Amino acid sequence: MSQAGDHNNPRGFADWEKRYQDDDVASMPWFHPDLDPDLDGALRALNIRSGSVLDLGTGPGTQAMALAERGFQVTATDLSETAVKKACVLAEKRGLSIDFLQDDILESRLAQRFDIIFDRGCFHVFAPERRPDYLRRIEGLLRPKGVLFLKCFSHLEAGDEGPYRFTPDEIRETFGKRFRVQSIAHTVYQGNMDEFPKALFCVIRKPSPGGAHP
Ligand SMILES: C[S@@+](CC[C@H](N)C(=O)[O-])C[C@H]1O[C@@H](n2cnc3c(N)ncnc32)[C@H](O)[C@@H]1O
Repeated sequence: MSQAGDHNNPRGFADWEKRYQDDDVASMPWFHPDLDPDLDGALRALNIRSGSVLDLGTGPGTQAMALAERGFQVTATDLSETAVKKACVLAEKRGLSIDFLQDDILESRLAQRFDIIFDRGCFHVFAPERRPDYLRRIEGLLRPKGVLFLKCFSHLEAGDEGPYRFTPDEIRETFGKRFRVQSIAHTVYQGNMDEFPKALFCVIRKPSPGGAHP
């Protein structure tokens, strides 16, 4: 696992596992108890009501739980074993059936493929040199025509600490060679911050085999 200051962690992110061991998940900046409003809107707009979903970097597991409550078949993974354990306990208390697994997306051991992947705040923590690994894994984990819903910090968010910031063009450049970037909307990242960070919500589709590319 990356530690502050190492090659894979140039922005000095805290040790995720330690953070989930030490802190109450409901106090974390990204904690949002309900389904992310941008994902909610996109599912409605695209009329997606069922299917298999990977909630990538699930953290507190709130998004996995909200999706399971809506009838999706949910797998939820995180680098932090403790995050996964805590989320699993909460989901069981709510009577929800979710496959929780500790997994590093950059070296994922997952074997199945998904209709949908939701990434709310995971991609934007990876150093630029790890992004090709991320893209390869996402491509492998999505079914043809499957959708990645990606929420990340936008270039409009001030400062350069913590998550990387992206312009819409950078998202198109990063994903456009392998995927079809369907839409990118300016939004905010709901959570516990007094002022919600500015964010992008992106709908990115894997092409069908032999389909027009991108
Ligand atoms: C900003 S938090 C967002 C958590 C959750 N998606 C949410 O919206 O509440 C980022 C999450 O990504 C996880 N993470 C970081 N690196 C990861 C990796 N390589 N593989 C899987 N999860 C990772 C962290 O442990 C953390 O829970």
